[in-house]
Amino acid sequence: MSTIQSSVAVGAQSSALDVRKIREDFPILKRTMNGKPFVYLDNGATSLKPQAVIDAEIGYYTELGANIHRGVYEFSEKASALYDQARSKVAGFIGARDARQVVFTKSATESVNLIVYGWALKNIKPGDEICVSEIEHHANFVPWQMLAERCGATLRFIPLLPAEGTLDLSQLDQLINERTRVVAVTAMSNVTGYMPPLELILRRARAVGAITVVDGAQWVSHTAVDVESLDTDFLVFSAHKMCGPTGVGVLYGREQLLEEMDPFLFGGDMVQRVRKEKTVFKQIPDKFEAGTPNIAGVIGFGSAIDYLLGVGMEAIHAHEQQLLAYAMQQVSNVDTITTYGPSDLLSRGGILSFNVGDAHPHDTGTILDEDGIAVRTGLHCAHPFMHALGIPGTTRASFYLYNDKQDVDRLIASVRRVAEIFA
Ligand code: ALA
Repeated sequence: MSTIQSSVAVGAQSSALDVRKIREDFPILKRTMNGKPFVYLDNGATSLKPQAVIDAEIGYYTELGANIHRGVYEFSEKASALYDQARSKVAGFIGARDARQVVFTKSATESVNLIVYGWALKNIKPGDEICVSEIEHHANFVPWQMLAERCGATLRFIPLLPAEGTLDLSQLDQLINERTRVVAVTAMSNVTGYMPPLELILRRARAVGAITVVDGAQWVSHTAVDVESLDTDFLVFSAHKMCGPTGVGVLYGREQLLEEMDPFLFGGDMVQRVRKEKTVFKQIPDKFEAGTPNIAGVIGFGSAIDYLLGVGMEAIHAHEQQLLAYAMQQVSNVDTITTYGPSDLLSRGGILSFNVGDAHPHDTGTILDEDGIAVRTGLHCAHPFMHALGIPGTTRASFYLYNDKQDVDRLIASVRRVAEIFA
């Protein structure tokens, strides 16, 4: 990837959001790290939580505490209602027709595994093909690789164009062909923020009758999503990257496919009738949610959805685009910085991945940490992507609704320090 030489057009400077007010909602932003005001730019790893979400979780433990879908007493019924409401909120948030299309898991990773174990293992046969891209997070790659090995299927890759930072779609019709049964692709790279032309890829997948799996872990939290118009079979994402608690993931699926799928976990609460000889499972989505779920987390997730909708997903996306444009402009003034990802910022979310001269990303991250700045460094759970780029990793700054230009300025000042130290 080329060193940034020229300035990049910066979008409108006024933020689409009242960031000062938003920042008040996130208690951690009042903290210091290494004695410096805390700058959080690791939103690709997880987002911070607003007080309303923290209160919702605490509220469940302090006021209800009961298990769901089991007790007939008031507190259990209230907890069940909040849990079920959260499912409806998630369905509404992504434009799903029916809340039954939303399955709660523990993570986006588990959601992909649920598709693999519940649908793919019984449907994929020797000679079938599975198409992923070279830029996938391991969560949307390793399960498919395992599946291909087990089933004698072939894994195909939509390749990266390293210099452009985009996917090479010139051979798409060969890569996705009549043997292709699954196309699994990210909606937004966790390394560069690149958003591949999903519609094009999904259209080709549908044309050959393949099922489509969209990894929305970095995407659903940052932009308005409508699964009906996206027309995907499955979409996976997680609560913790969208102001919600850790330990809650989502599998959205087409009703018919979910109905055909086998459960992945077996036990209590997912059954309708159990006899010594035979067990009948509940309908979707309950048949996939065995055992006591993360009740507090799901209720907190419901509150996170309310929070994000209150701010507005389009405004969040516009704000992040502005921050990215500003960051790209600022970074272009620092010698020896190399950035990764397409130059067309409209095809990217709010992620800036870079290297400073020969500094190892971990060294860069350590210096940023001294300056109170949290970023992610290394391979970003995307080894094939890094391998295609031929680099040992990057430093990744990832933005969210509470970040502002001051955060970018702090980042750039610290990056200049890295450049000086490693000059
Ligand atoms: N998937 C998360 C990241 O990219 C953890 O950092």
